[in-house]
Amino acid sequence: MRVIGLETSCDETGVAVYDSDRGLLAHGLYSQTSLHQDYGGVVPELASRDHVRRVLPLLRQALDEASVSRSQIDGIAFTAGPGLIGALLVGAAVGRALAWCLGVPAVGVHHMEGHLLAPMLEADPPDFPFIALLVSGGHTQLVRVDAIGHYTLLGDTLDDAAGEAFDKTAKLLGLGYPGGPALARLAERGRRGRFHFPRPMVNRPGLDFSFSGLKTHALTTLQQVADDAQTRADLALAFEEAVVETLVIKCRRALTETGLDRLVIAGGVGANKSLRHQLQALSADGIRVHFPRPAFCTDNGAMIAYAGCCRLLAGEAAALAFGAWPRWALGQPAPVALRD
Ligand code: KG4
Ligand code: ZN
Repeated sequence: MRVIGLETSCDETGVAVYDSDRGLLAHGLYSQTSLHQDYGGVVPELASRDHVRRVLPLLRQALDEASVSRSQIDGIAFTAGPGLIGALLVGAAVGRALAWCLGVPAVGVHHMEGHLLAPMLEADPPDFPFIALLVSGGHTQLVRVDAIGHYTLLGDTLDDAAGEAFDKTAKLLGLGYPGGPALARLAERGRRGRFHFPRPMVNRPGLDFSFSGLKTHALTTLQQVADDAQTRADLALAFEEAVVETLVIKCRRALTETGLDRLVIAGGVGANKSLRHQLQALSADGIRVHFPRPAFCTDNGAMIAYAGCCRLLAGEAAALAFGAWPRWALGQPAPVALRD
């Protein structure tokens, strides 16, 4: 089965063509970073309009690259939520309309399901069951994955998501949008040991997270010391170490509590080098750790094409009266069932 994937939930337009026999045939991405930079964050209306501009040219390019004609497409997958409603509606409307024109089924994919299945696109995909750490701009979750569609939420953030904490702390340190990668780059120049941030909630039982205190800690520390470039780099490193160590502790705990020995990392923060390095070290304890390549940690069309292909092969398909849902819990049915 050959499936087109469309991702437009936030500030990246992603497209891909996935073949269930041959794997990923092509993918393309347009990042809106430069569009939102002046505003210090994503402006939803600008994001939607830019998806409208980018999605079809990107798709044409991907089909050319895959040497696939429209008549060889068997299904269309689009991100149906969670995300920015205007942005989601672009992918949903284009995807549903395209499927109708081509006479093939369409399916709406949960954005986080796309993320958690992204390692399946790599050469050494994980077997089920596994623990997935989902760390993005909107989510920090530990999920037990028994099969596609069989997800048990083990832990969640009580406040800021890990990516959100990176972005907010980056802003405090005077770094632009997107903050996570900029903070990680600054941390590379930091000196270890000058500052120490708390590891939130590690001394309490359970697998939930809380990251909002870390940005406050960064702010109060910054107010107490001479504010220079080296201080900011030292703070960035101490912050990054605290987030990474907290995530590693909770991953270890989830693996111990479930008795599972496979771990998948997914979502934008999964591109963080220090996190990848520290989690990779779990393999010394017999844990198999699977990451998507960094480009497939952040938003992309390939993960949506893959997840959509699995769902279409299982016989799922979106009704003609399609929908998009800004809030939608992973593993739950879409909030409002639409009928033809
Ligand atoms: O998965 P994603 O592309 O979009 C969402 O679904 O949210 O994740 C974006 C998040 C942002 O908060 C961004 O700052 C963070 O991932 N991020 C990083 C890195 N690259 C992206 N955070 C830390 N280090 C990175 N290298
Ligand atoms: Zn995402």
